[in-house]
Amino acid sequence: MKILITGINGFVGSNFTEKWRESHTLYGIDIRQPKVKGVVQTYSWDELQDVPKVDAIVHLAGKAHDTKNESLAQDYFDINVGLTKKIFEYFLQSDAKTFVFFSSVKAAKDSTEGVVLKEDVVPEPIGPYGESKIKAEEYLFRKLPEVDSLNKKLFIVRPCMIHGPGNKGNLNLLYNVVSKGVPWPLGSYENRRSFCSIDNIAYVVEQLIVKENIENGIYHVCDDEALSTNELIALIAQSVNKSPRIWKLPKGLMNTFAAVGGALRLPLTKERLQKLTENYVVSNEKIKKALNIDHMPVSAEEGLTKTLKSFQDK
Ligand SMILES: NC(=O)c1ccc[n+]([C@@H]2O[C@H](COP(=O)([O-])OP(=O)(O)OC[C@H]3O[C@@H](n4cnc5c(N)ncnc54)[C@H](OP(=O)(O)O)[C@@H]3O)[C@@H](O)[C@H]2O)c1
Repeated sequence: MKILITGINGFVGSNFTEKWRESHTLYGIDIRQPKVKGVVQTYSWDELQDVPKVDAIVHLAGKAHDTKNESLAQDYFDINVGLTKKIFEYFLQSDAKTFVFFSSVKAAKDSTEGVVLKEDVVPEPIGPYGESKIKAEEYLFRKLPEVDSLNKKLFIVRPCMIHGPGNKGNLNLLYNVVSKGVPWPLGSYENRRSFCSIDNIAYVVEQLIVKENIENGIYHVCDDEALSTNELIALIAQSVNKSPRIWKLPKGLMNTFAAVGGALRLPLTKERLQKLTENYVVSNEKIKKALNIDHMPVSAEEGLTKTLKSFQDK
């Protein structure tokens, strides 16, 4: 297959390149156009008319979470909706058959306390990231009749937190803390979270492109098992050959500590405690049914162990 990937030099794009370059012909679109092994050519967004004919477009380019909190909300809409419109208009008039848009589970819900997140949930995103992704999804949905009439395919994938080599974000922070032997003080919270291994999302997207007869629509993508943060801490400790140091301090004490944390500028605030201990469980049943598989290629534990090993190899 000939595949055009936008945002090809980002975290997900670099991993897809690595995985697909042997079996597919890859082209990119990105802000920067470095020479990358396995990519025939990367174009700028102003050079769309120069891109050769492709079979599929995977639209990854977008603005994700801003850990430094420096972005304007409008930037998310300009980038996540604006670029989607631009590349999708190109797709409609091109020869490409399949369009895969990378949305996020955050387009559906910011938190999933007590429920397993499925595709039929009424979206209630919170914050400009999720809100801009749902706006882009809505735009694409309005185009479905045109997609059908042109005999093309449109898939919206909503992955949960993707991890793999070159990962940046909270998993790296946790890894740095645990590998230094710092105890984890939130052991009394037994939350469960879904993750998405890069191997699993790469497999799913490749199947959406190469397989015939998969229905257009939204698909949540995650590993088969949800893990607790305590299990994650144990996996990180195991990956650096240390015993996990999990302290089960009383929840009441940690809640009080977090409540004053913001005012005293401590590392643990109410919001951070909530993020670290919340449940976020996603269902991948719909995509497995569509692909006719019982299990994702790698389990949550296998995938995370691979990612953690890549941190050491860096
Ligand atoms: N990683 C996850 O856990 C996760 C989970 C769910 C959904 N997603 C979605 O998956 C997609 C890929 O994620 P990722 O982790 O690979 O993100 P990433 O590493 O930040 O890569 C994003 C790509 O988009 C490009 N980009 C950013 N702003 C742009 C702009 N204004 N104009 C043109 N290109 C721009 C980036 O270019 P520069 O590098 O030059 O800025 C980069 O190539 C995103 O749409 C994200 O929302 C990711």
